[in-house]
Order: sequence, then structure tokens, then C-alpha cells
Amino acid sequence: MTKDIKRVAVFTSGGDAPGMNAAIRAIVRNAFNNDLHIYGIMRGYEGMIDGNFKRLETTDVSNIIHRGGTILKTARSQRFMTPEGRKQAYENLVDNDIDGLIAIGGNGTFTGASKFMEEYPDMPIIGLPGTIDNDLYGTDFTIGFDTAVNTAVQAVDKIRDTADSHNRLFFVEVMGRHSGFIAIHTAIAGGAGGVLIPEEEFSLEDVVKLLKRGAKRSKLFSIVIVAEGNQMGTVYDIARKVEEQIDIYDDIKVTVIGHLQRGGSPSSFDRVLASVLGFSAVEALMSGKSGMMAGLRNNNVHYTPFSDAISKNKALNKDLLRMAHILAQ
Ligand code: F6P
Repeated sequence: MTKDIKRVAVFTSGGDAPGMNAAIRAIVRNAFNNDLHIYGIMRGYEGMIDGNFKRLETTDVSNIIHRGGTILKTARSQRFMTPEGRKQAYENLVDNDIDGLIAIGGNGTFTGASKFMEEYPDMPIIGLPGTIDNDLYGTDFTIGFDTAVNTAVQAVDKIRDTADSHNRLFFVEVMGRHSGFIAIHTAIAGGAGGVLIPEEEFSLEDVVKLLKRGAKRSKLFSIVIVAEGNQMGTVYDIARKVEEQIDIYDDIKVTVIGHLQRGGSPSSFDRVLASVLGFSAVEALMSGKSGMMAGLRNNNVHYTPFSDAISKNKALNKDLLRMAHILAQ
């Protein structure tokens, strides 16, 4: 029997991602539209354990659609990984008469949600993919990815000016944890001379060959995008090893874009994606769905069980990869 949903709580968890606020706004506004009471849980699972709940009014989400970060704050909770932590969280939800949860986050968030649902199946949960990494199976894009790529591309455009002026080679490290989505999109949009990602094996010789090939075509400067999770090592190790092998450029430099990729005003794409998924999550809970992540597939909202979202591999598009390598030449 479908549970009657009257009081919903929303939280953000794991790494923040631009667009999380737009998702919270859509959830709150659609909850009001359906006469639901809506609560925000501060700092993700940490706040659930500490009982840090806040009643949200529709005015609380005014003027946030353009803001990066998350008004609900976020955390990576160690305590929620313990049965005692989850029990405390459940008791707090019951004390606050919460009938359903909306979790905005990434892999760790849904792993926690899955475990919680095994122990407390009477608490329905819908997830929204909020991570810059775009590494969740079941959605073409995650909330925050587009903004992070735009930030990285803007940085690469600036690096290009100085790399060109000085005839230098730059290795630019981007985030993405174990996946190369940010790297491949940044490389394509930034017109990079190469891209090193975790999904592909490559050796020092491959990198050197790539750069020598460019030099043969009189390329006096180059930018290589390095995904932080690549298999060869840190971007500094890669730069040092390459420097020992080639004498093409006036100098070799490293730039780590780092947490700049996590902040900033969300792109219009992320705002729309977050609004669509946030809006849908409320309706999904009301219709009795649970244990699923709302994602976008071929421009349609699609629900994927948490177990698939966290365990199935989201592969990079092979054609895109092939194209990226050819265009980098
Ligand atoms: O998952 C988002 C992400 O930014 C990854 O790309 C990165 O590896 C990680 O989080 C960094 O985490 P933290 O902000 O905890 O250092």
C-alpha cells in the first residue's frame, strides 16, 4: 500500500555541487504546491543523526536558484556508516513525523540511503544526482557537472593565453574522482592537445609520442588535461617525467584547478536539470516510489534503483573519446 506522504525532509550530502540550491528550491516549491510540509536537514546525514531539522517555507528558497553551494550545508558522515548512527537518524526522523526523504548527492549518499532502507524500509527515499563528477549510472548528466566543466574550460582558455605567449606546455588537472567525464568534456571544449583519463591505459611513452607529434606540426605550446583519477600518477609526477624526456617547449607548468570546479553560480543547464529533477522527486515520493534516483535519460526523467546507480559502471561514450583524441592532434 502506498504510504500517505505529508511531511518530507530534504538534505544534501557529500561534495557540494552547483545546482543543489536550485534542486532544493524546486522540491520546496512543489511540496507546497501539493500541501506537503517540508523540512531541511542540515549537513546531510550528520544533521539527521544530530536532529538538526529546519522547517522550510517557500520564502526560504527565494533568491537561491543562482547560488552555488547548498543552503542546507553538506558533510561526508562517518557516523552514518555505523548501525548506531543510522538508528539515531531513524529515531529523529520518526520524532519529527517525517514520512519521506529526498537525498541530493552522489555515490556515497546513495550507498548510505540503500543501507538505511534495508534496515528501515518504512522510510521511503528518492535520490537526486548531485555531484560534479557525472559518474552516476542512470542519468546522462548529474547536477553540477555542466557548471564544473564550464569553470574548467574558462580556466583552460586563460591558461591558453599564457601558454601560447611563452611557448609552454601545461598539464591541467581537473576533478572527477575515479572518472574522466570532466576531463574529456574540458579537453574537447577547451581544445586541449591531449587528455589523460582513468578509463584508458596510457604510458609515459604514449604521452611523449603525443607531444612530439604536435611538435612536428610546429605546435609551439600545448595543454594536456589530466583527470585526477588517472592511472599514471599525480599531475606533478607526469609533468616531471615528461620533462626528462622532451625538449620541445620553453618550460613545463602544472595547474590544478581543484575546488574552483565545485563552486560558482550554476549554469542554466544545471538550473533546469536541478529544477526538473527536484520537481519530479516530490511527485515520485507521493506516487509511492522509493529507493530510486531520479535522473535524466534522453531528455526524459528516468528512475534508477539506488543499487544500480551506485554499482553499475557509467561508461564514457566511446565515440566522444575517439573524437577527443583525433581533434587533439
Ligand atoms: O565528488 C566530487 C569531488 O569534487 C571529486 O571530484 C573530488 O575527488 C572530491 O570530491 C574532493 O573531495 P573533498 O572536497 O572532500 O576534498
